[in-house]
Order: sequence, then C-alpha cells, then structure tokens
Amino acid sequence: MTAAASRAHAAADSIATVEAFFHRYRAAVAQTPAVADFTFGNPQEMPLPGLVQALKHHAEPKTVDWFAYKSNETDPCTFLAGVLSDELGMPFAPEDIALTKGAFGAIKMAFTMLLEPGDECIVPLPGWFCYGPMLAAASATEVPVPLEPEGFDLDLNAIAGAITERTRIVVVNSPHNPTGRIYSREALQALAELLETKSAEQGRRIWILSDEPYRRIRFDGVEFTSPMAVYPHTLIDYSYGKILLAPGLRLGYLAISPQLPPAERAELQRLRFAVQMADAWNVPDAPLLYALPDLERETIDIAALERRRDRMLGALAQWGYRMTRPEGTFYLWGRAPGGDSATFAEDLARRGIHVMPGTVFDRPTDFRICLTADDAMIEAALPAFRDAARTPS
Ligand SMILES: Cc1ncc(COP(=O)(O)O)c(C=O)c1O
Repeated sequence: MTAAASRAHAAADSIATVEAFFHRYRAAVAQTPAVADFTFGNPQEMPLPGLVQALKHHAEPKTVDWFAYKSNETDPCTFLAGVLSDELGMPFAPEDIALTKGAFGAIKMAFTMLLEPGDECIVPLPGWFCYGPMLAAASATEVPVPLEPEGFDLDLNAIAGAITERTRIVVVNSPHNPTGRIYSREALQALAELLETKSAEQGRRIWILSDEPYRRIRFDGVEFTSPMAVYPHTLIDYSYGKILLAPGLRLGYLAISPQLPPAERAELQRLRFAVQMADAWNVPDAPLLYALPDLERETIDIAALERRRDRMLGALAQWGYRMTRPEGTFYLWGRAPGGDSATFAEDLARRGIHVMPGTVFDRPTDFRICLTADDAMIEAALPAFRDAARTPS
C-alpha cells in the first residue's frame, strides 16, 4: 500500500537514474566549484542582452488586463503562424498554434490530446530522458527503440518491429539529443510510408510527435525537414529555451498540421484550450507572450557554438576519443574511454569536469558533453579529458 498513485511511482522509477546523477553532481559542485560544467543544457554566460531588454520592456503593464489570464491569444498565434509558414513552408493558421510552457508543455499537451491509458509511444534510444516520466504520468508506456548504432539514423526495421496495436505515437527528435543527428527528408519520407502502412493495417492512426526544440541550432549549413512536411498526422513541439539558452523562461508551442484532413484538424483546434486548461493552464506567462516577436529575433551565437564543437572534437580525437560529429544541438556524444561511462564521469568529476554519463540515456558505454560553456571553460577542461583518456579506470 503506497500513499501516492502508481503513475507517480512509475514516473519516479523512469527518472530515477537521472535524478540520482543530478543529486550527485549538485553535491559535488556544491563542495568544489566546477572547472567546467558540461552536464545539463544550462547557460554558463550572462543572458542575451536583447532577451533581457525585451523582458524588461514587456513586464511593464500598459493596460489593466496586462497580467490577466492568457490563453492562445490572437496576436502571438497569428505571429507564430506566419513565422512557421515561412520557416516550414506550410500554410499554418493561428488556430493551428497552441502557446505552451516550453517544449515540455507542448509534449504534455500532445500526450493528453492523443494517448489513451495503456497506449504505447515509441521514443529514440539513446534519447531524451523525460519522455518516459511524462508518459508514465499519462498512464502510457514508453517503448525505446534503438537508433542505428553507427550514424544514429532512424532504424525503420526496429521501429516496424516495435509497433503493436497499442502504438499511438512515434517521437522523432531532430536535431537529436544527445547525438546531434538531423534526419534527411528521404529518411522521414520512408518513416512516413511505414507509419501510413501500419496505421492502415491496424485501423488506428499512429501519429508522429516531432520534438524540434533544436530546430534552429544547426551547423555546416545542414538543412532541416520537419516530419510534418511528409506526414500530415504530425504534431510539432518547439521551445525558445534552446535558441535563447534560457530554459527557465517557459515559452514554446504545439503546432497542428495544416495538411491534416479538415475534420481532424478542426477537432484538434477545438480541443486546444480544454487540454491546456486541464493540463494546469499550460500557457506561457503573459510577459513572454508580449515579448514573442522581439524574442523571435534573438539567438545564441551559433557560429561560436560550431567553433567550440570543432575545438572540442579536434582535441578529443587526438587523444583517441570516438565522438560523433553533431549536425545540430549543443551536445557531443561519444564512447567513454574504457567503455564505462559512470567510472569515466566520476574520474572527470574528481578533476572538476562534469559530463553526463550514458547511464542516464540507457547507453552506459557512452557519454554526453553539453557545449553551453564558454571558450575559457573548454580550454580549462581539455587537459582533464587528455588525462582521463590516458588512465581509463
Ligand atoms: C529533446 C528535448 N525535447 C524537449 C526538451 C524540453 O525543452 P524545454 O525545457 O525548453 O521545454 C528538451 C530539453 O532539454 C530536449 O532536449
């Protein structure tokens, strides 16, 4: 007999490894300040001046209802429909947009909108560790399906093999956390064909949730295709937390496809408000909504990020590290020297360098470096990476 509901325990079980890592890391940095912190995607430099300016400006009330309850307000939804139509080349209407508390809020909304209790949701492995607890909270089941082991492409055979009559959503995360992979239009087209076939076979629609918070963080001129462009039964979630490197400001959206059959599009549009309200008023705080057009113009320095990626990859390669070359995101993913990421991460932590062991991604041989660090931090950390590679424990 437990006090809390089974879904609360299931969510806790799902996030337990990450939570344990988080507490160990917090205790370590409380004791000895980090030389370099490459763990979670948090800012290590002062926020963008344009972001601060916009927040200050829009926090100042101009009308009596400035801080009234807000939902899918006409101005920001119209603005975003225009932005998305230009960026993704589809004719979004304001009613296709739901303003949410970041990508988290949009993912939660998609789960509430689409999942019956007991439904299954396919997620990438390795992949972001919060799908599992969120699915558990929705009384649904996470089905991790491995990406291709070398290039981390979508493995269509593996996805086909994992689909059952309970499969309702396939999460596509491109650019992908933690590998930085961006899926080609051809790969997404092949997935779309598979899901069309499987949906028809089972008489039940399988949706794609396109988790795109890193959509604008791309390197080397690599193009981005949203799965929505090739599969109408797609919902997009987006967050400004990555491009502004300000995840403590909860601003994002869920987008409904303009290419859905009209009756289904209208149904989802109609349900937007009720689902957001039922999910604890899942709408960004009012100043963020007013600031949206200003924030849309702001971005972290992607050229600097690309430079840091190259600096780190070059240095690590010379010491024998086998890393992937990310096409996007701010992560580097690779094999831990010695093949035991927990031991490797602890060794680095003793040297004041904090990385994420692959154990938190269910890939214990690998590790992740988050490059939201400044140049000085990267330079300070390199000798420790060199030494840790020499003495794999
Ligand atoms: C793949 C992925 N999806 C969604 C999110 C959630 O983004 P936000 O916290 O901005 O809502 C994250 C954040 O780390 C992520 O990495």
